[in-house]
Amino acid sequence: MSYEANPSRYKNMPYRRCGKSGLMLPALSLGLWHNFGAIDNLENARAILQLAFDSGITHFDLANNYGPPAGSAEETFGKIFKDDFKKYRDELVISTKAGWGMWDGPYGDHGSKKYLVASLDQSLKRMGLDYVDIYYHHRPDPNTPLEETMGALDLIVRQGKALYVGISSYSATETEAAIKVLNGLGTKCLIHQPRYSMFDRWVENGLLDVLGREGIGCIPFSPLEQGLLTNKYLNGIPADSRAASHRGNGAMEENAITPEKIEKVIKLNEIAISRGQNLAQMALSWILKDDRITTVLIGVSKPSQVTDSINCLANTSFTNDELLRIKNILEPY
Ligand SMILES: NC(=O)c1ccc[n+]([C@@H]2O[C@H](COP(=O)([O-])OP(=O)(O)OC[C@H]3O[C@@H](n4cnc5c(N)ncnc54)[C@H](OP(=O)(O)O)[C@@H]3O)[C@@H](O)[C@H]2O)c1
Repeated sequence: MSYEANPSRYKNMPYRRCGKSGLMLPALSLGLWHNFGAIDNLENARAILQLAFDSGITHFDLANNYGPPAGSAEETFGKIFKDDFKKYRDELVISTKAGWGMWDGPYGDHGSKKYLVASLDQSLKRMGLDYVDIYYHHRPDPNTPLEETMGALDLIVRQGKALYVGISSYSATETEAAIKVLNGLGTKCLIHQPRYSMFDRWVENGLLDVLGREGIGCIPFSPLEQGLLTNKYLNGIPADSRAASHRGNGAMEENAITPEKIEKVIKLNEIAISRGQNLAQMALSWILKDDRITTVLIGVSKPSQVTDSINCLANTSFTNDELLRIKNILEPY
């Protein structure tokens, strides 16, 4: 039976403006880094995407190298897009990226114009799309002039292959420089995608200030520290967890679950319960409390996690006392 989206899909999801742009993004967006590769179950992937869209999640985030193997998450997305989402294309914001190693030789990595242009052409083919909504440079490349990398992003927008451009994992200083080059070219930087969670707060040391000042959106990734900031590892490592999966491609391994981290997780979990949330929900709310954050980029392995995480939206404000208690648990980290 062909997929028909839930007619009530826009009723409950808040949409937040992406910096000073015209683009609104859902408070939660869905990333396809893991659980959408060729090694994963296609029907589970389909159920996740359908439930996300039915719940008002209009933004799906990909990259050339997501899988594993690299490229296969875009292929999975392409299959499901063709079957289920083609008629909803104008209701979707689809992003992809290039910047990490993708193919052999000197042109399949880093930040050259050669790599960025070729990689997007490959991504569009894998996903069966004419254009992406957002194209990112995935990580800074100190060996390629910023003018070349940003020039490639500007070119891609002018070619109509992407509507907007963004950067990922650039430091505050690198971000300021990239913004300046892009402004000079006439293609504004829409959004920055940094890693940000209770356990990794580097963006608070300058990057969020730059983004707020410049009117650039922010979409933090790995907000649950790949699942560590949930209650799933409180009693050991479940067999169906990411830590036990050994899927490679940057996925966390068992050695990331240290006694020191679990001690903090136990204490954070108590605060979450006192707020009427589970820890995953509190960790997402904690990111969304800052209005410089446009949307929080979640990953899920099953449909039930989509609903569970969206339920964080029932409580995104924190008392000063809660914030202080959380800070005392996290610092020094
Ligand atoms: N720009 C970059 O360099 C970069 C890097 C990494 C990621 N990203 C983007 O960010 C997205 C999210 O990253 P991530 O997958 O690491 O995010 P994450 O939200 O920190 O971790 C996702 C994992 O947390 C667990 N989880 C999710 N919701 C849960 C819930 N409600 N209750 C219990 N457990 C829950 C699941 O683990 P189990 O699998 O164990 O069930 C899930 O696979 C990626 O898909 C990608 O789009 C970007």
